[in-house]
Amino acid sequence: MTIIIDTDPGIDDAIAILYALRHPAQDVVALTTVAGNIGLSVTTFNAGRIAALAGVPTPVHAGAAAPLDKEASPELGIHGNDGLGGVHFPEPLSPPASQDAVAAMIEILAAHPPKTVDLFCLGPLTNLALLLKRAPESAQRIRRVIAMGGAVDEPGNVGPKAEFNIAHDPHAAAAVLAANLPVTLIPLDATRQFRADVGYITALRETGAECAKASADLIDAYFATTDGAESRPLHDPCVPLLARHPELFTLETRLLDVDLATGALVDGPHPIKVAMGVDADGLRAALLKGLSC
Ligand code: RIB
Ligand code: CA
Repeated sequence: MTIIIDTDPGIDDAIAILYALRHPAQDVVALTTVAGNIGLSVTTFNAGRIAALAGVPTPVHAGAAAPLDKEASPELGIHGNDGLGGVHFPEPLSPPASQDAVAAMIEILAAHPPKTVDLFCLGPLTNLALLLKRAPESAQRIRRVIAMGGAVDEPGNVGPKAEFNIAHDPHAAAAVLAANLPVTLIPLDATRQFRADVGYITALRETGAECAKASADLIDAYFATTDGAESRPLHDPCVPLLARHPELFTLETRLLDVDLATGALVDGPHPIKVAMGVDADGLRAALLKGLSC
């Protein structure tokens, strides 16, 4: 499975990337970065740090520094000023590539047979929307897009019905839903069911594995941003986990669109596969195993 991970690391992005990079069956050929949780220079720097901690040299390509048609709105309150909750990560093994994210996507998709490259989207969909604009024929070579984003029946996390990744760049999300790509969306309806508590943090630490211990520190930092929460949702790790363990998710097809004013998912004309349920115990076990290898 050849994969490009598009990301705005980000505490939960980091856990997802550590899992994907350490998983032998997931060949991550590039990390493409986008402004989201924090600015582009920091998400790009963090992508390099995460690959360094995983011990898997992975090309990092910087993408969009801002949404298509609105101001950026970072989430420093959750991810901290360094985007990784202050958790120690090594320096990147190498500087980011000079080639930007969209050019890298075009090159990778051209170098592989059609429908053999997966795109994991862990942040706002700006880079994918730019790929659709610059090279629509290239985007159609993608085998599948698995994206964390949106809220279907669940309340939002940045508005009554708005979820951060979609609302940060609603124009990009609308373009992606309208592009007739093989998209599987993992909204808050699913990701909020996949939670980590202090017992899970302990279990991660007890593995003694570097990636698991770093993930424990990241979840600890996640806890620090809330008062009294018994558990925290693991949003972005659902993306690589769905790719490896689809049996742990319940999928439906919903007809969707994006409300450009509020950034909320709304009823619309586009049939989109949506994960609405998870086997949370199964996911916790799979994540722990994957981070421990
Ligand atoms: O709403 C959760 C999403 O927004 C996650 O991808 C998190 O990293 C933030 O980007
Ligand atoms: Ca993210």
